[in-house]
Amino acid sequence: TTVDAQAEDYELGPYSDYMRKEIHEQPDAIRRAVMGRLDERFATAKLGGLNFDPRELRNIKRVKFLGCGSAYYAGQMGAALVEELARIPADAEPASEFRYRSPVVDPDALYVAVSQSGETSDTLMAVQELKRKGGQVMGAVNVVGSAIGRECGHGIFLHAGPEVAVASTKALTNMAVNFALLALLLGRVRDLSAAQGERVVRGLRGLPSQVTAMLNAEDEIAAIASEFADADHMFFIGRVRGWPVAREGAQKLKEISYVHAEAYQAGELKHGPLALIAPDMPSVVVIPSDDLVAKNISTIEQIKARGGPVIAVTSTDIPAGLADALIRVPRTEPELEPILFNIPLQLLAYHTAAKLGRDIDKPRNLAKSVTVE
Ligand code: AGP
Repeated sequence: TTVDAQAEDYELGPYSDYMRKEIHEQPDAIRRAVMGRLDERFATAKLGGLNFDPRELRNIKRVKFLGCGSAYYAGQMGAALVEELARIPADAEPASEFRYRSPVVDPDALYVAVSQSGETSDTLMAVQELKRKGGQVMGAVNVVGSAIGRECGHGIFLHAGPEVAVASTKALTNMAVNFALLALLLGRVRDLSAAQGERVVRGLRGLPSQVTAMLNAEDEIAAIASEFADADHMFFIGRVRGWPVAREGAQKLKEISYVHAEAYQAGELKHGPLALIAPDMPSVVVIPSDDLVAKNISTIEQIKARGGPVIAVTSTDIPAGLADALIRVPRTEPELEPILFNIPLQLLAYHTAAKLGRDIDKPRNLAKSVTVE
């Protein structure tokens, strides 16, 4: 199945720019990604574009996601999902690095080439390098008929619909949703129980309305964005599931607002970057509902003790008054949390850029698809 782009997909309608339109299209984009792909009866996923039978799926010993920029961060989210749900070792690597370092290609690994446009030169070259070395590679692309999709021969379509703004929003969300489906499928041919599979299926079904709920709170995030828009630098801090979220949040802010943003794993702060914490350096701290909440709270305390302002983004309860600003994320299944946490960070970047009067859809120096080296 493919998504045929209609002319109206390219019309702005009530929106002043494509990025905000595409942010608001995410509930529908997620619905399309899961439509017809959730098998309630066997608590698994059906991915018609994958040419693997169950035995071949079981023979996959390792999964590596390759993509650039946001597609790489989505790959990191995918790797976590695969490790958690299928217990297969998985990681992500920037496609732009992969082919230059004479990679060891593992014949028992599944390589996933991740790309919205399907035309990114670095990712395409990584696919070609893999194929030349006998690697098993599948595509995860949004644009049907694109170079990467054709080169891979099989894979999963993201079904995000056309994405026009340079900053990726709904495509990134759908990458993560599709990787949850892939991880569910890989898990259910292994040891993930039916009850656990049902839990993930339910979680995926619930995402669109949870995203809608967050989009309805956009004004609150816009107010926080304008409060912090005059900062020259920002930290984005996360641990484990919160780490790719922090990286993507920092990327989005840099890309469209030109505010310097850096993502750090919370545990790394004390090994250097803590020296930068000061009243003019706000930190966005990502706190999912996992077993690291207490550690994340102490990270906020450390930042506050050094005078750094904190914007906490969380799906759990943290002590009142601890953070200078609080963004609430609805609770979903723990493995799916990164998908929801992304949404307010998109809005934070968007409204910071809007406040600063940036050209949101076409940030300086960037192109929607990078077809050169
Ligand atoms: C995302 O906001 C960026 N514009 C950029 O990092 C992008 O994700 C990257 O260039 C990869 O593009 P692709 O998904 O089309 O391959």
